[in-house]
Amino acid sequence: MEKIEFEFAKDGPILVKKDGKVEYALCRCGHSTKKPFCSGAHMSSGFKADSSSLEIKG
Ligand code: FES
Repeated sequence: MEKIEFEFAKDGPILVKKDGKVEYALCRCGHSTKKPFCSGAHMSSGFKADSSSLEIKG
């Protein structure tokens, strides 16, 4: 059974993990130059957000 997890990084992207390995980093700050993926722009944009996570078992 594979495990998919969405980790909402503090002040950063949504990390999509499959069986514990990061597959994608999705932008949630709105400033990425590589949307829908994180380009690192959140670090200079002043984006602030709490961390949390969501796990899906398939
Ligand atoms: S979250 Fe990283 S560029 Fe938006």
